[in-house]
Amino acid sequence: MIRVENLSKHFKVFKHHRGAMGTLRNLFTRQYNLVQAVNGLSFEIQPGELVGYIGPNGAGKSTTIKMLTGLLVPTSGELSVMGLLPWRDRQKYVARVGAVFGQRTTLWWDLPVIESLNLLQHIYKIPAASFKQNLDEFRTTLELDPFLDTPVRALSLGQRMRADICAALLHDPEILFLDEPTIGLDVVAKERIRQFIQQVNRERGTTVILTTHDLSDVEKLCQRVMIIDRGKLLFEGQLDALKAQFGGKRELLVDFAEDYPSPQIEGAEIAGREGGRVSYRFARGEIAASELIGRISAKYRIRDLEVREPQIEETIRRIYEERLLEN
Ligand SMILES: Nc1ncnc2c1ncn2[C@@H]1O[C@H](COP(=O)(O)OP(=O)(O)OP(=O)(O)O)[C@@H](O)[C@H]1O
Ligand SMILES: [Mg+2]
Repeated sequence: MIRVENLSKHFKVFKHHRGAMGTLRNLFTRQYNLVQAVNGLSFEIQPGELVGYIGPNGAGKSTTIKMLTGLLVPTSGELSVMGLLPWRDRQKYVARVGAVFGQRTTLWWDLPVIESLNLLQHIYKIPAASFKQNLDEFRTTLELDPFLDTPVRALSLGQRMRADICAALLHDPEILFLDEPTIGLDVVAKERIRQFIQQVNRERGTTVILTTHDLSDVEKLCQRVMIIDRGKLLFEGQLDALKAQFGGKRELLVDFAEDYPSPQIEGAEIAGREGGRVSYRFARGEIAASELIGRISAKYRIRDLEVREPQIEETIRRIYEERLLEN
């Protein structure tokens, strides 16, 4: 559905010299820095997927989304979505995709929400019946009714985001691009948006590309994740594979029924202890948790135990950091 090959976007940022002489120099020289926002990106996305697109600030996520939605023309490389070239086949293309930019509304600032939505019906030439059906559904699921008559500029962030998401979906797009749709929202509002995104993906079969800094968005929603840093793909695959590859060690917490001075066990190292509770670290792939638990319970008397997976936050942080050390 989406095919990206060796895609790049470079920006020329002109250097500005300061002061009176600088102003003169600005007139005569055109020196610039090249920002390689996206640099040789390749990936594919299949119909019906819900893919997470993550990376640190300035990694190139929004630039990628802007190219995918046809707002930016790539510097080089190939990009085809549903057989179309987003920036060239723009009119045909926008009728088939929807986009939400969390940082900026796509609605009319001074218009009441409902009027913005009505305008979109005309712009996208949405048949009256399907417009009504969609609007009725989204009014309920996104709880739009309390602010349908409020101008967009007067909406709270969470309300605005819901209105924007509704606006992006009214014309039944096949693909939905979401650039930080949960940014700045409280936990309850985030959860609502997540549930809605999941519902749209499952029930309507909409393909979703989701950019976010909130890793719980990714954990709760995405089957597959792509990590970008400095314009390049660092990882692409299932979340489980990410954890297996970069996840670091798992942890086993054991509450012993007796006081053992040094309850060593083969296959794991003691990472800490607090009274009768000892924490072990062990590597995924080297030993299964069940095997380890078997070994411990054969040797010691146990009251309780718990296996802890490495946190996704920690995993991602390590990927970013290791990448930084490489360069
Ligand atoms: N129009 C532009 N002109 C010049 N440089 C740009 C432009 N747009 C983006 N950049 C630069 O390209 C790089 C990638 O920016 P981008 O907005 O794609 O990052 P991002 O991954 O979305 O980051 P964030 O998580 O902060 O939203 C940054 O260094 C940014 O300064
Ligand atoms: Mg961005």
